[in-house]
Amino acid sequence: MDDRFRFVEVSASAPQKMCEAVREGLKRDERTLPTRFLYDRTGSELFEQITELPEYYLTRTEQSILEDRSDEIAGAAGENAMLIEFGSGSSMKTRLLISALLRRQSVLHYVPIDISHDFLCHSSDGLLSDFPQLIIHALGSEYFDAIEHLPVHEGPRLVLFLGSNIGNFTHEQSLEFLTRLRRQMRTHDRLLIGIDLAKSRSIVEPAYDDSQRVTAAFNLNLLARINRELDADFDLNNFEHRAPYDEDQTRIEMQLISRVEQVVTIDAIGESFAILEGEKIHTEWSHKYTLDGFARLAQQADLKVSRYWTDCNEWFATVMLAP
Ligand code: AVJ
Repeated sequence: MDDRFRFVEVSASAPQKMCEAVREGLKRDERTLPTRFLYDRTGSELFEQITELPEYYLTRTEQSILEDRSDEIAGAAGENAMLIEFGSGSSMKTRLLISALLRRQSVLHYVPIDISHDFLCHSSDGLLSDFPQLIIHALGSEYFDAIEHLPVHEGPRLVLFLGSNIGNFTHEQSLEFLTRLRRQMRTHDRLLIGIDLAKSRSIVEPAYDDSQRVTAAFNLNLLARINRELDADFDLNNFEHRAPYDEDQTRIEMQLISRVEQVVTIDAIGESFAILEGEKIHTEWSHKYTLDGFARLAQQADLKVSRYWTDCNEWFATVMLAP
């Protein structure tokens, strides 16, 4: 089995980076904590629970599109494709595409990219035993660091960025991400991106503020993580989870609102922060798109929409981009 698995570390996840990022974010006029720190072990488990909530339509909707269309997608990828995946989250969706590609070709090179070494090794184990024709070349890396390290391949490369993960980027970040990827793409390479489509507030907001309060726990766990890893004294009871939908910007903003005037001390930084009652700490953007708006974003990165697939409600879209 070992000869079918290779791991290359591109960017190390230095704990010192977290310290600096937390400090910088909390010092801003509009306080913010980096979205990527939501995903420690507990956070990743909570996210898995979110994907199963009745209100959180994203994962199951994308899954249904891939269930219905994976053969078409594999066909559009071309012959003898390599599969590359940014943020290889739940392997359920990937498995559908791996199966579809392996119905068309006898061997498949799969390149999962994730910051978590443990996660990569664990999920690769399962895939290798279920798919004997699979060869895995895993990259331990942050998204942006990996772009210039994608393996070369004789045939076309199909690059996945599913789950509306692109929605967490700001407009500038998504444009930079697509532009840099575009530079690495040859004529036959394709990008497959999952985007959550703009829709009514009454559907979007409950997805980020569910009745079982799992999303609240997911958001608040960011503070618990900082307490654990940076010796801080955030009192989780003093913060409230909020996730309003801005219909003009078509995005959810996940926030933590201070319920009281309070002082928080972070020993690893060696500083205290005075936070006012009602003050907001930003933790995540989750952008929703129109198909036109996304096509324009792609075009700015010199990419064009070659095909797209949606569900019957048009809640989510899987978009294929070509150079
Ligand atoms: C991981 C980007 C798909 O924006 O919907 C879920 C993360 N945040 N609930 C999203 C998330 C709050 C999520 N993605």
